[in-house]
Amino acid sequence: MKVLVTGGLGYIGSHTVVELINNGDEVIIIDNLSNSKKEVIDKLKKITGKDIKLYINDVIDKEALRKIFSENKIDAVIHFAGYKAVGESVLKPLMYYRNNIDSTLSLLEVMEEFNVRNIVFSSSATVYGNPASLPIKEDFPLSTTNPYGTTKLFIEHILEDLYVSNNKWNIVILRYFNPIGAHKSGLIGEDPNGIPNNLMPYIVKVAKGELPCLRVFGNDYNTVDGTGVRDYIHVVDLARGHVLALKNRESGIRFYNLGTGHGTSVLELVNTFEEVNGIKINKEIVARRPGDIDSCYASTDKAYKELGFKAEYNIRDMCRDSYNFIKNNK
Ligand code: WQD
Repeated sequence: MKVLVTGGLGYIGSHTVVELINNGDEVIIIDNLSNSKKEVIDKLKKITGKDIKLYINDVIDKEALRKIFSENKIDAVIHFAGYKAVGESVLKPLMYYRNNIDSTLSLLEVMEEFNVRNIVFSSSATVYGNPASLPIKEDFPLSTTNPYGTTKLFIEHILEDLYVSNNKWNIVILRYFNPIGAHKSGLIGEDPNGIPNNLMPYIVKVAKGELPCLRVFGNDYNTVDGTGVRDYIHVVDLARGHVLALKNRESGIRFYNLGTGHGTSVLELVNTFEEVNGIKINKEIVARRPGDIDSCYASTDKAYKELGFKAEYNIRDMCRDSYNFIKNNK
């Protein structure tokens, strides 16, 4: 299958490109380099041994999209491209709505023009808000508490309305829990510029000596050790989930959680990282971060039953691979 991957040079996009090529698919990437580096394409060619077409354009640009669809017979699209920093979205909501919504509308309109109606959309567990119970199932109530999460929810609604208007569409919406880790080669991984918002990239920056100390946001949550519990999933498992999502070519609209079904606390993750990598992470307990919830982990039944998806890597693998990437990219 020929798959267009938007945001294919990004953290999750690049790992998905590898798994698609491993699966025998041909990949075309569109990426505007707003949160990725051009040299990732060379890393992808080194890992896969395949040439990969890269278009350095913005998904919002319909003329650029039309050129891609004219030059390549696209069978399906995996749509990752979008801004994704929760904190930034609170400060710059208009930028987030304009970018994430408009780029998706441009993509869907051009897909319609070229009769390409297979799409996998990168959504997020953040659409569940603060769940009333655990594990979280796909039919739980949806609510968001920040503009980033709201763009994801809006795009889910856009896709639902699109399917109602034309049931020839084949739409799969994947709700990620907390992706961490990196490809075993150490060539690709997550290395955000500046001060990371998310836990693992922050731990890694402390491990590298780039930041002095990890701030643990609260230890008075109703959890095993008082620190926040999340469902961390290895990014390679997440990528595999996208390959499986593409296999069903029937029209329809389907929603799946991509998680492990297990919760891990902040301190459990830090302790595992220290043990696996033989390194000490300076940390201090500070006040809760506004908007954080106590616990969040996935029900994985539906993804397993309908996609055959089951995460294979554990927390130790994720900690090892996250650090391995950084060691290879000093
Ligand atoms: C995890 C835990 C923090 C940083 C967010 C988005 C979600 C998705 C994943 C995009 C929490 C604690 C964190 C730190 C800490 N992103 N923490 N010190 O908030 O679960 O989810 O990222 O799709 O949409 O909401 O992830 O990694 O920020 O936090 O103690 O420096 O680590 O309190 O308990 P989160 P996170």
